[in-house]
Amino acid sequence: MQNAGIGVLGLNWRYLAFDVYPERLREAIEGARAMHYLGLNLTVPHKILAMDMVDILDESASTWGAVNTIRFEGKHSDGHWTPLHQWSEPPLHVRSHGFNTDAEAIVRALREDLGIELGGRRVLLLGAGGAGRTAALKLASEGIKEIFLVNRTRDKAAALGSEIRATWPAVNVSLDYPGGEVDLVLNATSLGLKENDPLPFDESRFGVDRAKAVYDMIYRPAETSLLRTAKLAGLRTSNGISMLLYQGTQALEIWSEQPAPLEVMRQALLNNVYGSL
Ligand code: ATR
Repeated sequence: MQNAGIGVLGLNWRYLAFDVYPERLREAIEGARAMHYLGLNLTVPHKILAMDMVDILDESASTWGAVNTIRFEGKHSDGHWTPLHQWSEPPLHVRSHGFNTDAEAIVRALREDLGIELGGRRVLLLGAGGAGRTAALKLASEGIKEIFLVNRTRDKAAALGSEIRATWPAVNVSLDYPGGEVDLVLNATSLGLKENDPLPFDESRFGVDRAKAVYDMIYRPAETSLLRTAKLAGLRTSNGISMLLYQGTQALEIWSEQPAPLEVMRQALLNNVYGSL
């Protein structure tokens, strides 16, 4: 996806993947800085660790408490910093600037894939891990009316609920399944990754026929049993591939300061993840 986008923008860049132990993350970031990398993406389990390892945090990272995108910037003689892609000669002084593009990607995916504007909505969120937490806080910040937080470990849902109540008191938080209908069910648990996984909710307490749309953050397999069940019930559905796409297009825009070629990147991502599907 990134290399396809980079190609369309005519940039002489390469996007490469490296496996890094969390214990070595600081060195990896320092090494990239020393070698004048333009930027980095980070994924699990590095996103929270990197909060303390970058020189400066964009509001997107400080708000959600996680860094998934780093941009390296060089210092000019007058003291101001600009992204490395603007420099013809690598500068001596380089800083790392941490961003988060995951949260915005959730909102964009819900809007563009499911036609959901979040203001005033009722949402059942399944899962309160890293992805669930970011989703819950972002949805609250977008002005949803009510959120139902359900997680296997109830304490984590309760802690997340308290966090929401403290910052967005207008949002109704419930730590149980909804009584009536919801506009959206959002799966942020890992249930569905394996073929024989059960549905990510208690079927004796809730049924998809009480929802209008379902978004599953899982994208492999392309259709989890949750999505299959929801489709059969006639609901609007989407899997998590669009979140992956939108966090990536926004990262490319941060590094290059140009609009990312969305459709080319989407096709490259779909080909890469699902083959010729
Ligand atoms: P991520 O960064 O993808 O959110 P995570 O932080 O490990 O990953 O969170 C995984 C989520 O899936 C959690 O909500 C987890 O529930 P717990 O908080 O109780 O661990 C949920 N999950 C994982 N396996 C599960 C299972 N077998 N049944 C129900 N929920 C499960």
